[in-house]
Amino acid sequence: MSDDRLIVALDVPNALAGLNLAEQLGDAVSFYKIGLGMLTGGGLALANELKQDHGKKIFLDMKLFDIGATVENAVRGLAQFDLDFLTVHGDPYVVKAAKEGAAGKDMKILAVTILTSLDRADLDGALIKPGDIRDLVQERAAKAFEACADGIIASPQEAALIRALPEAEGRLIVTPGVRPTGAALGDQKRVATPAQAVKDGVDHIVVGRPVWQAENPRAAAEAILAEMAAV
Ligand code: C5P
Repeated sequence: MSDDRLIVALDVPNALAGLNLAEQLGDAVSFYKIGLGMLTGGGLALANELKQDHGKKIFLDMKLFDIGATVENAVRGLAQFDLDFLTVHGDPYVVKAAKEGAAGKDMKILAVTILTSLDRADLDGALIKPGDIRDLVQERAAKAFEACADGIIASPQEAALIRALPEAEGRLIVTPGVRPTGAALGDQKRVATPAQAVKDGVDHIVVGRPVWQAENPRAAAEAILAEMAAV
């Protein structure tokens, strides 16, 4: 089994393309993220196939947010799919409802604190209380942990801050926005290398384009794994 600290984001157009990529990556990659963009392209069927037929771990990135009863029902339904990670927004009542829905299953609930695409002006527009975003992220992470989140999705810049929380003991930190040295940034602005993420206490990194857009995706994944293993 390969190192499951690397999660490859299958941000390809449909399930068939996702399956092709997973086949190219073979036993180099054991953990995949399936996002909202794939949902109408057969994402859940792909999750099932990768899990049942290929023995892969699955992270379903749904970022659920609704009244508690609806979140609980949605999570209970998704828990039938034998998933490993599921994301919800980090509001404590949402996290609690998701944990209720996942009761009795191994599926871990990961909380999103503040979307990394938002800046302070966006938060002002959403009437979110004043303060530095990093402080708000740390506060929301602590509250999500108190609500029993199994882990937090964090930007590389926030990972060390969250790892420093006493509440983070024994919980997961999962980080997108990771770029191997020399890789194109795409639209990611606040990035770290795989090695830096590991040093900051991250449990899993999520990497998309540097793998699936590579000429040789398997070699790209293996280079990332080697960088992590060398820390
Ligand atoms: O291609 P790239 O490596 O940037 O993909 C990162 C993945 O992580 C994408 O699926 C993206 O939607 C997701 N993500 C992110 N930043 C967040 C949350 C999720 O890049 N804050």
